[in-house]
Amino acid sequence: MQDGRIKDSDITASSQWYETTGPKYARSVCCQPPLVDLGQLTFLTVVGTQGRYARSSGKEYARAYRLAYSRDGALWRAWRNRQGNPVVEANSDAYNAVIKDLHPPIITQFVRIIPVTEVSAPVCMRVELYGCPWEDGLVSYSGAEGQVMGPPGHALASLNDSIYDGTQHRRLSGGLGQLTDGVIGQDDFLLTRQYQGWPGYDYLGWRNDSLSTLGHVEMEFMFQTQRNFTSMKVHSNNMFSRGVKIFSSVSCWFKSRPLGVWGAGPVVFHTVLDDRNPSARYVTVPLGGRSASALRCRFAFADVWMMFSEVCFLSATGPSTVPPAVSPTPVLIGCLVTIILLLVLIIFLILWCQFACKVLEKVGPAPAPAPVSQSGVSERQRAAGVLLLTASPCLLASSSPPLGSSPHPGGGADLPPVVLQRDRGSADPPRAPPRPPRHRYPPPPATGTPPPPPPQCFHSNAPHYAETDVVSLQGVTGSNMYAVPALTVDSLSRQDISATEVPRERLVFREKLGEGQFGEVHLCEGEGLPGGAVLVAVKQLRADATSQARNDFLKEIKIMSRLSDPNIIQLLCVCVASDPLCMVTEYMENGDLNMFLSQREIESTLTHANNIPSVSLSDLLHMSVQISSGMRYLASLNFVHRDLASRNCLLDRRLTIKIADFGMSRNLYSSDYYRIQGRAVLPIRWMAWESILLGKFTTASDVWAFGVTLWEVFTMCKEQPYSLLSDQQVIQNTGEFFRNQGRQVLLYAPPLCPPSLFKLMMCCWGRDADQRPSFEGLYRALRPHNTICGF
Ligand code: ADE
Repeated sequence: MQDGRIKDSDITASSQWYETTGPKYARSVCCQPPLVDLGQLTFLTVVGTQGRYARSSGKEYARAYRLAYSRDGALWRAWRNRQGNPVVEANSDAYNAVIKDLHPPIITQFVRIIPVTEVSAPVCMRVELYGCPWEDGLVSYSGAEGQVMGPPGHALASLNDSIYDGTQHRRLSGGLGQLTDGVIGQDDFLLTRQYQGWPGYDYLGWRNDSLSTLGHVEMEFMFQTQRNFTSMKVHSNNMFSRGVKIFSSVSCWFKSRPLGVWGAGPVVFHTVLDDRNPSARYVTVPLGGRSASALRCRFAFADVWMMFSEVCFLSATGPSTVPPAVSPTPVLIGCLVTIILLLVLIIFLILWCQFACKVLEKVGPAPAPAPVSQSGVSERQRAAGVLLLTASPCLLASSSPPLGSSPHPGGGADLPPVVLQRDRGSADPPRAPPRPPRHRYPPPPATGTPPPPPPQCFHSNAPHYAETDVVSLQGVTGSNMYAVPALTVDSLSRQDISATEVPRERLVFREKLGEGQFGEVHLCEGEGLPGGAVLVAVKQLRADATSQARNDFLKEIKIMSRLSDPNIIQLLCVCVASDPLCMVTEYMENGDLNMFLSQREIESTLTHANNIPSVSLSDLLHMSVQISSGMRYLASLNFVHRDLASRNCLLDRRLTIKIADFGMSRNLYSSDYYRIQGRAVLPIRWMAWESILLGKFTTASDVWAFGVTLWEVFTMCKEQPYSLLSDQQVIQNTGEFFRNQGRQVLLYAPPLCPPSLFKLMMCCWGRDADQRPSFEGLYRALRPHNTICGF
């Protein structure tokens, strides 16, 4: 209402505007529950209410209210919270506004707010509604009811749709529920994101051999209008140790009108089943631009159980780009061939790059690189205007100055400080704006439209670090298959290691913290270790690791032993005198930042009242400052991290953040990495375009990753970057960054994120590496918060 999207004419019943009561940005509503028409389907997440205060002539407010809503204006439904309670507690005086999160959110166009009073009396209340357009356009899904896992009377998990707002009678029919509530299930379906949720709460699940599901589950999805469907994304569990797998295939039929017939010729999609990675994941089903207002999808079981936590659709309204009569097969084949060619090209270049690097390592310095423009793209490449995969990072490496010789990147004082807006009059902490209906991307502008103007970013006069040669921090478990670090460390031996050697008997194993391709990280209790540390993290190389992995492990130790900063994980000592090789670092009690944030909510009165683990906006900013500070230190040494992400930031018990790169996390977060040739892994969603396309890793590409890490922090790590895009689409999007014709998809502004901070992120994703801010500048821009927020 405040921003004018809900007009007076959208409110009916006896709602009125009174000059005397003066609700400047709301409506005063008397006598009848008002009907609000939001004008379009909306994902409603928050309701604010306030009383009517007119000096002595009327002090009225509602102590509680109920909500009724309707998606079509005809069928009305009563809202209930996740515990089944329909009543929302509201005001206790006439002036203070009370803001309530809706758990679950409501997808609706029409809303009624119905005051609840003990005795029949007129009640006046001012109301504000918060939400976002529901762009999926989905109005209902139907299908077999979810089931219970476990023997009768001993339910292990209840996999029903507990907030479904249609009818549930063996079948779910005509409603929306947990598949559209924006809550993504965890890898272990027995764990829930919802406070007071039971095991399996976040998932809707079916057993293969039940009567309602013989080999497959059929679901129907109804949309408000006809749309052209690009893809469907189904968030599925894959905990195969308990007989749960993503679906093996799905067939989707389409119909253009609700009462029409299902078209022949479904879109059929076979998934790649995965018996190695138990992570829950989004499975993207390409729908070939088919036009329809309803879909029927038949999901085939791959194991005993199939479990979904979210379903969403990428589609556009308007005329179909593919006539329904045309078979989508040629289009699909065309897309697949293009993608395969692209991948073959990338693989070829990576192999070539590796080969060239090996040769370079052997023969010594290579000739100076071909002249490249500021962004590392030659003028010829630029003129060609095509997606180019060229320029070896090895050539750049050959002109590497010795470690520490290049100037401190410095500068950055001109970046505008990030401003945290806080209502100083309010006793409550700053409220996050309502959460959008999960991931939304601004639609790419039509071809030919100029790209959006770049944000005003800091520009330093000092020589920019973006083109300086670098040392890579990544080690054995890092993804050093895809780029060649300009390491000054050549063939290492144990004698090169300067870190303190300790007898391994002093380390007593306590528990396993992580695992990767070449080793494991353990929590150990140490005796007589340097600095007196008792609990330490021990990264151990597997005895059967390749000689390359051993060398990389020793390199990582050598590099880490040179680092000393409050925001970088500290190497304490090593055991390299005998196998297995071990490096001992400080132990970070709160694990990694991704896990930490994804298990918390943003602080609010609700989290306080219900003891829900939470963090405040100031905490998030403090975390961002710390990461920028650690990176500033690395940049000052010309170290390039190459895998900065929330999963590689660790937290101790006082919430100090330290940047690490324990590639051991690769197993846990394997869906964050894109596998090439089954060997190399690339964190493509965090990588700058030039790293993906040109294999170029610089401090400037670390800045890009820092922007993505900030984005993760302000989405509370609840979502993977570009979660609606498949890995292939992310790579295609990288091509759009290179072409710079305004068609690149950007990460959206997280609702929690202050606008000035989002501007900063956008600067980090600048097309020209040398226009991106420095870490020093980022640190200075972020730091004022600490004083504002009292850190
Ligand atoms: N996981 C990997 N490294 C760790 C560390 N140093 N502390 C805690 N958990 C970890």
